[in-house]
Amino acid sequence: MTTPTVSRGTGVTARKETPTPSGATAPAAQGAVKPVSRREFLYYIWGASMAVLLAQGTGLIIWFALPRFREGEYGGLFTIDAATLPAAGDAPQRNPAGRFWLTNTPDGLMALSMVCTHLGCLFAWVDANGRFECPCHGSKFERNGQYIEGPAPRNLDRFAVTANTPGGPVTSAEGEPVNVAGATSVVVNTGRKIKGDTHA
Ligand code: FES
Repeated sequence: MTTPTVSRGTGVTARKETPTPSGATAPAAQGAVKPVSRREFLYYIWGASMAVLLAQGTGLIIWFALPRFREGEYGGLFTIDAATLPAAGDAPQRNPAGRFWLTNTPDGLMALSMVCTHLGCLFAWVDANGRFECPCHGSKFERNGQYIEGPAPRNLDRFAVTANTPGGPVTSAEGEPVNVAGATSVVVNTGRKIKGDTHA
């Protein structure tokens, strides 16, 4: 401990180190590093582990929240300019990248999966017959994907479609026909495939 003392006659103040009861001087005791106890060390390890786990959890949440497919890639969204859509009565339009047919039915626009619901062959639109026909085993489907005949067990599968209209987006979440009158563009969500109904 430091105690100020005054020299007689000179007025000069001097400082004198005073030993503490333990024999060590105070400045030395203040500078000493306190060792980390076993309990504190375990707390630090636990805290660090929690921080790592939290970071990993946050990373996983962000990874799952991000879209897995890019636009224009099968499994993602396909945006089509409304000016290029097939008009009512036109032959359906094939989109190989999205693996769907855009078909304009009397009830509205639909996006039908290209894959036959029998054994997965790629069927075609036969203009002369006005229907889809599968070359593998002869299943046939209407313009709207409705089963006509053949071994296919159900109607064609379809994708959700959104029409961007001046009044806002109109979505057929179950792939039902969507009215595209006045739409500027149409978005087909190939990440949302709806199974065709099974026929009796
Ligand atoms: S795969 Fe199409 S009818 Fe068999």
